[in-house]
Amino acid sequence: MSSLVPQPAAESQDLRARLRTALAATTERLGSAGVPSPSVDARALIAHAARTDRPLVLLDALPEDFEARLEETTVRREAREPLQLILGRAPFRRLELRVRAGVFIPRPETELALDLLRERTDGPLAQVVDLCTGSGALGAAVLDELPAARVLAVEVDEAAAELAAQNLELGGPGRGRVLRADLLGEVPELAAAAPVDAVLSNPPYIPAGAVPQDPEVREHDPQRALFGGGEDGLEVPRAVVAWAARLLRPGGMLVMEHADVQGAAARGLAEAHGGFAEIATAADLTGRDRFLLARRRDDAPEGRHGRLSR
Ligand SMILES: C[S@@+](CC[C@H](N)C(=O)[O-])C[C@H]1O[C@@H](n2cnc3c(N)ncnc32)[C@H](O)[C@@H]1O
Repeated sequence: MSSLVPQPAAESQDLRARLRTALAATTERLGSAGVPSPSVDARALIAHAARTDRPLVLLDALPEDFEARLEETTVRREAREPLQLILGRAPFRRLELRVRAGVFIPRPETELALDLLRERTDGPLAQVVDLCTGSGALGAAVLDELPAARVLAVEVDEAAAELAAQNLELGGPGRGRVLRADLLGEVPELAAAAPVDAVLSNPPYIPAGAVPQDPEVREHDPQRALFGGGEDGLEVPRAVVAWAARLLRPGGMLVMEHADVQGAAARGLAEAHGGFAEIATAADLTGRDRFLLARRRDDAPEGRHGRLSR
């Protein structure tokens, strides 16, 4: 005898039940493992296992290996592997950036740097430098949102520099360039890029001896991406400020991220240098001091010749 319930509806109910069960069980497991946002992460893992970017309620089929894929990724997330590494991508402003193990994963709070820069820029933003670029996040976002801009991105780590090159291409094909260099030393190729309109940076800034709380950070972000050098963690940020002073045109802006307790110290770096005006601290969306803002003084000498375009 044929079923009274039409087959498609029964299949659909079965699919909804499987999704509900998966969501409840995955959320529970991630919560027990101490994942801070278990339900959000569970939904992301389920969508990944279902190979979809659509809302889960719109799904009308699941791949055969759905449960197996979900199990494999849930085990990884329970072990506190970062969600972005499991998914293989990280959202950053309008982009879905590539990520890879061993390279710093871009964070949502860093996205604000570009808004701060755009709000404070009155002249052109044609030549932008991203110092300590990591995955290339800030530089790629500049290329994506400012179609006339060119970006020079500087990074010391080989794997990060390779990834940054890929992400810059994603942001604006042919308009970005990665320079693999240590900002603590002399970098003639970087010096030759002056004058530029803006310098963006999210450098390492954690003080020596501090231990990041989250296992995702402690065990997966590379040490060189976290610890800024010196007791106060400000050795690399100090170098960023000095490079910004050398690179920026008069009136050009530096926007540099720092830890929430480093606002005064970061302003101090720009004040001690002497080449900056309008030195200020900007808060993130939760009200914590997170960004140094500084404008290259109008009376600053022009940088040396050379533009970012080749
Ligand atoms: C906190 S991560 C930020 C990456 C990227 N800007 C972002 O916001 O996602 C800092 C990056 O600076 C790089 N770095 C550390 N010291 C450096 C140095 N002396 N010169 C150049 N890059 C450096 C690290 O390898 C790492 O990729």
